[in-house]
Amino acid sequence: MNDLMSKIVSLCKRRGFIFQSSEIYGGLNSCYDYGPLGTILKNSVKSHWMNAMTREHTNILPLDSSILMHPKIWEASGHVSNFSDPLVDCKTCKARFRADKLESSACGQKPSKKPTECGGELTEPRQFNLMFKTFMGPLEDSSAVIFLRPETAQGIYVNFLNVMTSCRQQIPFGIAQIGKAFRNEITPGNFVFRMREFEQMEMQYFVHESHSFEEFERWKQARIDWHIGMGLRKERLRFHQHGPKELAHYAKAAFDIEYEFPFGWQEIEGVHHRSDFDLKQHEKFAGKKLSVRDPVSNEAFVPNVIETSVGCDRATLTLLIDAYHEEKIVEEGKEETRVVLKFSPKIAPFTASVFPLMKKDPMSSKAEAIFKELNRIWPCDFDASGSIGKRYRRVDEIGTPFAVTVDYESDSVTVRHRDSMKQERVSDSGLIAYLKNELKNAGAEE
Ligand code: GAP
Repeated sequence: MNDLMSKIVSLCKRRGFIFQSSEIYGGLNSCYDYGPLGTILKNSVKSHWMNAMTREHTNILPLDSSILMHPKIWEASGHVSNFSDPLVDCKTCKARFRADKLESSACGQKPSKKPTECGGELTEPRQFNLMFKTFMGPLEDSSAVIFLRPETAQGIYVNFLNVMTSCRQQIPFGIAQIGKAFRNEITPGNFVFRMREFEQMEMQYFVHESHSFEEFERWKQARIDWHIGMGLRKERLRFHQHGPKELAHYAKAAFDIEYEFPFGWQEIEGVHHRSDFDLKQHEKFAGKKLSVRDPVSNEAFVPNVIETSVGCDRATLTLLIDAYHEEKIVEEGKEETRVVLKFSPKIAPFTASVFPLMKKDPMSSKAEAIFKELNRIWPCDFDASGSIGKRYRRVDEIGTPFAVTVDYESDSVTVRHRDSMKQERVSDSGLIAYLKNELKNAGAEE
């Protein structure tokens, strides 16, 4: 793994963001558990996404559909016949690769080389379906086969009419959903970038074909702007347009939003013009009409769909990578490296950490009272152990924008800023207004 990625993986474990799944049993490849800090961070990503969809658009509604769905859904969507990757094995080291990703794969025996550069021979490609299969009920036969959903989108399509009629919507309107998806990836890797169990945040916008390209362009821009608004550096984001060979058979257009990861430019989100393919397929396989009527022209039509689909884990990883900084500082005459996550204050797991300079009263009880007051407004943390220097290192590493230290002064505290390390004296009575103003200046408060 790349050096920077190794440092991020290690910080994530050390500070309680992300752990290897089933670690005490030796780990389960490509599955991860979010620790306390990671859970807060990921929940914040999810709530920002859901708010950007449903609170900023009155015609986008939330949904939470089940992971297990009727198996015919995956025949209709094309996943049973098409959702596969070409797989090849090295006859020498038995390592398994995606035939279409050999250029970016590493030899099983000599990781500095690409597959076959070690002299090994590859098998002919075989198609490998990525859906996880299981059985519903007590019988383990073909009639009981069921799939773990590989995307959340299909749960939206099959509920399209339910949402539209129950919530009195008209075209155009959208449905937004966050939920787990499962893919038996051949080559998972790069930490939570490619996993077998992950979470997606998907929005399907149902629109008349005549406005579909206009909406597609609008959503492309809105989605890249959302990532920038979450704090990602603009210069590390770009669009990649799917060429004719990449474009899915049902898509009229598709763009990936890519981020410059330590392992190269990679997709974090897809914006897809899915035509009327999905709804028409479900009409055909379910035998139910999914057309709508234009209230003015009375025309009956099956809507086109503009999809925005982003991995929640990938978005969280991107924020961690983008926020990661190492800085040389001089502490007590010694040069040290400070590791700091420069999260936007709007997504930092904690807004402020409160420290009593010493674990004794009246400092301790004053610090606890301030913590309780701040914690009612923003997620905050309380830390009374170790030297102040060590506590600063910790808040830097978890990306907390402000540290509030209670010392001998009876009517004021010190506020230390994470990025500039500047320290300011603030009166007790003015502390909340001071933090509100700082957050407002950073774009994290109205
Ligand atoms: N419904 C469309 C769809 O699922 P996709 O490009 O296959 O499209 C959308 O996936 C997003 O889901 C990707 O941009 C990525 O962020 C995330 N994603 C896909 N596979 C993933 C995996 N194995 N691990 C983590 N995230 C994944």
